Amino acid sequence: MEKSTQKDRPDYISNIGTLATAEFSGINGTNRSILVRKNLWIELRDGKVNYISPENEPFPTEFDQSKVFDACGGLVTPGFIDAHTHPVFAGTRQVEFVRRCRGETYQQIAAAGGGILNSVRGVRESSEEVLSKLIKKRLDRFLELGITSVEAKSGYGLTIDDELKSLQALKSVADNHPIGVSPTLLATHVVPLEFKNNPDDYVDLVCNELIPLAIENEIVEGVDVFLEEGAYNLNQARRIFQAGHEAGLMLRIHADQFTAGGGAELAAEFRATTADHMDRTSLEGYRLLAEAGVTIVLLPGAVFFLGLEEYAPARKIIDAGCRIALSTDFNPGSSPTQSLTLMMTLGCVKMGLSPEEALIGVTIEAARAIGRETSLGCISPGYQADMCIWDAEDINFIPYAFGDMIPEVVFKNGQCAARRGCRMKAP
Ligand code: NIG
Ligand code: FE
Repeated sequence: MEKSTQKDRPDYISNIGTLATAEFSGINGTNRSILVRKNLWIELRDGKVNYISPENEPFPTEFDQSKVFDACGGLVTPGFIDAHTHPVFAGTRQVEFVRRCRGETYQQIAAAGGGILNSVRGVRESSEEVLSKLIKKRLDRFLELGITSVEAKSGYGLTIDDELKSLQALKSVADNHPIGVSPTLLATHVVPLEFKNNPDDYVDLVCNELIPLAIENEIVEGVDVFLEEGAYNLNQARRIFQAGHEAGLMLRIHADQFTAGGGAELAAEFRATTADHMDRTSLEGYRLLAEAGVTIVLLPGAVFFLGLEEYAPARKIIDAGCRIALSTDFNPGSSPTQSLTLMMTLGCVKMGLSPEEALIGVTIEAARAIGRETSLGCISPGYQADMCIWDAEDINFIPYAFGDMIPEVVFKNGQCAARRGCRMKAP
């Protein structure tokens, strides 16, 4: 990153070659499409977008030029939002990667005591301080990659203390970091070994003790459960949803990743905020999710990295009327990437999304997936000034660049928060 020579908190961004952001259309503004405008400038105030000039309007010469950030003709998009991440872990799982390269499957490794339980050992052995340092490094990386807000899950502690420690570490870093964090309790990720023979007792503990404690400590906004063979069953997932719903938390579910297990129907019944993975859901399941207004979070990174063939049928999902967000699923086992631009490439190549749909999935729909669609994910007056400037002429270049795209400049709340500076030079 280059030392900044222009105002780090400008009042204006001038010389925008292309502005690409979601617009709302249709009845009640429920449809989203990407609106592209050329050669304009914008005014920022109090960390928000205040005004967007008409197209082809030169920046007024009478304005205070010392308060201007020159976008040098670049492409400006909203800051990206990653609506599904697991950044609270210690240690990698490269050994499992090598085992998979030799032909073992993710489920075989998990059934033999590896997988998520490997990361559980890492978190239990780490102090809150150590976890905080690791989380900070990961949030720094997200920001450099153009991601200005994330949803972030616990889920590798699986005891009351270790789950609270994970969420506390997340909060202490988030409180002092430009990135916005929406924390989720995923204590029901897999069944901890101590409860192998009585998983229902662990679910009781999560519902009756852990959820209330996390709320009391103000370290959680959502609750999540992994519904899958070898993880939690439908009845246990329902109990987590019931407890989360009563506590006023956003409801999320990992489901239909390897087997279809009724997760879509459950998420629709509870009007969950998101249903994630959803690679093997029935058409009827997608239809129910659409009707219930549940955002499906597509995670092509996990499908790719586990060497699977079956990507979620994004076209069918969109045709069924569902809203879709596109996220990394950043975690040490099934998707150790933090790159949403790479997810855009996979979304286009493997799922048949258009670059516009991929951009909507990492901006406005991702904002909705974290409950912040009225303030994030869009460049429009009143929205937070979270933006990226890219060395590109149009948005197609981002997924085309095959994950190799890093923004030149990242603004969070109107503040320049990361900067490469190779092209965006001071005048
Ligand atoms: O979303 N599916 C469950 N959880 C993660 C994987 C976590 C891990 O392997 O550590 C996922 O893919
Ligand atoms: Fe996940």
